Amino acid sequence: MSIEAGLRSEVDRKGDTSLKIAWGITGSGDRIEETVEFMEQIKERYNLDIVPYASKEGEVVLKFYKLLNRVKEGFPGYKVERSSNAPFLAAKLQMGEYDLFIICPATANTVAKIAHGIADSLLSNSAAQAMKVGVPVYIYPVDQKVGEMTTILPDGREMKLKIREEDVKNTDALRDMEGMTVLNTIDEIEGVVSEWKK
Ligand SMILES: Cc1cc2nc3c(=O)[nH]c(=O)nc-3n(C[C@H](O)[C@H](O)[C@H](O)COP(=O)(O)O)c2cc1C
Repeated sequence: MSIEAGLRSEVDRKGDTSLKIAWGITGSGDRIEETVEFMEQIKERYNLDIVPYASKEGEVVLKFYKLLNRVKEGFPGYKVERSSNAPFLAAKLQMGEYDLFIICPATANTVAKIAHGIADSLLSNSAAQAMKVGVPVYIYPVDQKVGEMTTILPDGREMKLKIREEDVKNTDALRDMEGMTVLNTIDEIEGVVSEWKK
């Protein structure tokens, strides 16, 4: 039996239909609003138990986009990074407290760390430790394709950004990593969840 199938049957055995998800939020303005909206919708639709874990900069960006209170209210378990091991998400993942670990949106910084085996922040460390015990990690990196893209600022204005080749290379490195699934769109998370709920 594959690790994923084993974990899935573990969920079935519990007879627990509410999937428990640790959701890492990094400091990316790009897609942050879309992510929060998506988290709210998917939680409702699939009766999910989602605990958001923001990186330190994730919390800064949530504040900047006036989304922090909304996340805290919608997800009362919300936690923020104090160090790579506090809160102790790595251990909770290793002890099987969560069925899935999703990082969305993922900054170029967090992607680069995971791609190069650096585990000195809450979310890069938790991803590394989760992969070591076969807890599936799903990541949505904001930098997916080299070239110009448009992001939306908190006041609704658009800003053009150049996605660098170096950052896309790091995203591609994650695609080859065992235990890690790179999502091309945020919507793909719905497919992941419905598959795990089966
Ligand atoms: C308002 C704001 C928006 C940001 N948007 C992005 C972004 O879209 N993509 C990105 O890679 N970094 C973005 N950053 C920079 C990251 O927050 C920064 O690299 C930080 O160190 C990432 O830390 P983390 O990966 O631990 O969350 C933004 C920063 C701020 C303040």
